[in-house]
Amino acid sequence: MRVSVFGLGYVGSVTAACLADAGHEVVGVDVNPEKVAIINAGDPPVVEPGLGELLAQVVKSGRLKATTSTTNAVRDTDLALICVGTPSGANGELDVSFIRRVGEEIGSVLGGSERVYTVVLRSTVLPGTAEQVLLGALCSASGREPGARLRVAVNPEFMREGSSLRDFQSPPLTLVGCADAETPELLRALYFCVDAPFVSTTIRTAEMVKYVGNAFHAVKVCFANEIADLCTSLDVGAQEVMRIFRMDRTLNVSDSYLRPGFAFGGSCLPKDLRALLYAARRTDVAVPLLSSVIPSNEGQVRRAVDAVLQTRKRRIGVVGLAFKSGTDDLRESPLVSLIETLIGKGLDVRILDGNVSLARLVGANRRYIEEEIPHISSLMCDGVEALLAHADVVVIGNGGEEAELALAGCRPSQVVIDLTRGAVRFAASG
Ligand SMILES: NC(=O)c1ccc[n+]([C@@H]2O[C@H](COP(=O)([O-])OP(=O)(O)OC[C@H]3O[C@@H](n4cnc5c(N)ncnc54)[C@H](O)[C@@H]3O)[C@@H](O)[C@H]2O)c1
Repeated sequence: MRVSVFGLGYVGSVTAACLADAGHEVVGVDVNPEKVAIINAGDPPVVEPGLGELLAQVVKSGRLKATTSTTNAVRDTDLALICVGTPSGANGELDVSFIRRVGEEIGSVLGGSERVYTVVLRSTVLPGTAEQVLLGALCSASGREPGARLRVAVNPEFMREGSSLRDFQSPPLTLVGCADAETPELLRALYFCVDAPFVSTTIRTAEMVKYVGNAFHAVKVCFANEIADLCTSLDVGAQEVMRIFRMDRTLNVSDSYLRPGFAFGGSCLPKDLRALLYAARRTDVAVPLLSSVIPSNEGQVRRAVDAVLQTRKRRIGVVGLAFKSGTDDLRESPLVSLIETLIGKGLDVRILDGNVSLARLVGANRRYIEEEIPHISSLMCDGVEALLAHADVVVIGNGGEEAELALAGCRPSQVVIDLTRGAVRFAASG
């Protein structure tokens, strides 16, 4: 394929060299003539293991050449990969001016022509940037409408400086966000040399996934370091603790606990987190990340309370009372907190949770229900019909069969607040 790569920094120079190595005909573009000259001499513009050798080879073979001319680059290619910088402002705001600029430059070259051109954004940008900034600039400079002849896609990369050549060949996935059916096929062909699952999604999702990854990596680093500080203060070897922690690929390093939904609760997570925070306070260890977890969790309950209050309706039906579906355990259930707050605000609440209803009659939780939450226990309904007959607002607190039945039986006039954030519907449909 004939590809141009705009921005020959870390990402662009590695991308250009690797694509040329795979056999594509690549034109690298940069506004900095020194970088262009360095690449054309077969030298690396950045320090990256293996890049020097690879560049020397692909430049010599003629498959990669660099230029400062957008006109030549667009004329000689069918697809552009945008790898320009997106630096941070003093207030954290993303500077997208380089992206806008490239969009205008490419757009003005495309202006007088009818040819199909695909512009793929590889830089890290917030959701909306590709459509508003890049596509906006391309369209206004070219006078074209977005569509068949002018396609835009987002293709974030997952390379790490220091191992980016290896990461280019074997990324965790090849992610493409676009709005048409042809572009994923084009990018499959571009990345035929890359050994990774190919994931096609919407433009905004692809933009966001990159940020989620980096935010998670940052959280993981700080988590491991705070745990290490705690380990040291408790006279435990941090490396050994984390080595064993990482061995658990079912609950720890896994997709468990990473599904959006409602707040956590139960008999373990809140209690054990509090014990760790107390140990940190006693030993004067600062753990700002761990300390922020319970306030963050409480924020989820407040968010649910606000969502119910905003409906301005009084008759509320909540599906789920236990801290998660499939259990009758009410200890530190965030749904109990939510319901107590709603009752305190004067709302008329009814609750459906078959497991808790059963526990009210028999089982180990009977005493807890009778002694700790009698005011809530008396609000239990004995079936979906009774809950739906009462409620103007249906709050789905836990997933499961009762939630599915409630959703299926809702009247159009009833407001549904799904605290599982769609998980119950996904479960129902898939
Ligand atoms: N560095 C990394 O490891 C890494 C990893 C993942 C994602 N990213 C993202 O990729 C993007 C690029 O990062 P980078 O580290 O390669 O940036 P960089 O600053 O090293 O390189 C950007 C290049 O773009 C050039 N440029 C600016 N305006 C241009 C224009 N109008 N036309 C052509 N070239 C232009 C600059 O001269 C520079 O050489 C950023 O959005 C970054 O967040 C970087």
